[in-house]
Amino acid sequence: MTARRGERKAAHSGAIRVDFGPEKSVHGLSWGQQHSGYFGSPEVARAMVDTVRGIWRPANPDAVVDLGGGTGYFLGQLREAGLERPAALVVLDASAEQLGQAEAAGLTCVQGSVGVFRRGDVAPAGGRVLYVMRSVLHYAGEQGWRRLLRHIRRQAETGEYWVHQTACFERREDADCLNALYGKMRTGKWYPTVQVLGEGLESAGWEVVSTCPAPVLHLKSGELGMRYELDAADLKQIQREMIEEYGADNPVFHAAEDGFQAELHYRIWSCRAAP
Ligand SMILES: C[S@@+](CC[C@H](N)C(=O)[O-])C[C@H]1O[C@@H](n2cnc3c(N)ncnc32)[C@H](O)[C@@H]1O
Repeated sequence: MTARRGERKAAHSGAIRVDFGPEKSVHGLSWGQQHSGYFGSPEVARAMVDTVRGIWRPANPDAVVDLGGGTGYFLGQLREAGLERPAALVVLDASAEQLGQAEAAGLTCVQGSVGVFRRGDVAPAGGRVLYVMRSVLHYAGEQGWRRLLRHIRRQAETGEYWVHQTACFERREDADCLNALYGKMRTGKWYPTVQVLGEGLESAGWEVVSTCPAPVLHLKSGELGMRYELDAADLKQIQREMIEEYGADNPVFHAAEDGFQAELHYRIWSCRAAP
């Protein structure tokens, strides 16, 4: 099924629902203000916009498809920066609330799961596709992230590009620390190290053309509490346990004025589908 601008389509596998739990409350209109405005910031988006513009000529896309593209903020920024030639701008997301905003921004929307979508759901037959994705891989969890890399590879033709900004850590101990935090917050989210992610991409059939750091996301306990339905007692308990297990002097988790703050590191990966 091919999406058309101004219309929201369900992906071929649209019946497979993604359960966002309490996190659903941050979807939609207020998404861009979450986490001190990280996902609604042109400065934050710039590095990934520049990366996509940098590979535009070899990618030569007829459609740019944002996987888990949310409110379409990233594609909006790309459009504003200017495209060398016209291309369809398509947001694939499982959340109706997020897609409501993307639709209002004039983007083509497809409701479905990144884990099971088909190329034909998001792009016209015969055209070249450039996939982008920002801050989504961790939703697949420790058991699912490699499968997701392989699934996206199967929806790309050899030589096509995928640019993604993904949370990952240079140091194993920092990844362990954030994974412990997300476990304690009762989410299934999971973060790899840079090395493990690079190897995972290669073994899923992606050639890493380049990679560079992206702005760090500062996660404040109050916002995390709202997003994951944790009350003040839960947050205090989590802080106590984290400091006991990971130390008071930790670069990615520390006490703050009104609770704690964690630091989510990101990298932008420019990948090409290998033969
Ligand atoms: C952290 S937000 C990032 C949104 C957007 N990429 C951005 O940078 O603003 C993650 C997005 O992924 C979507 N998402 C998570 N798991 C998904 C799945 N399995 N299929 C489709 N969308 C998914 C969520 O609805 C949400 O919009």
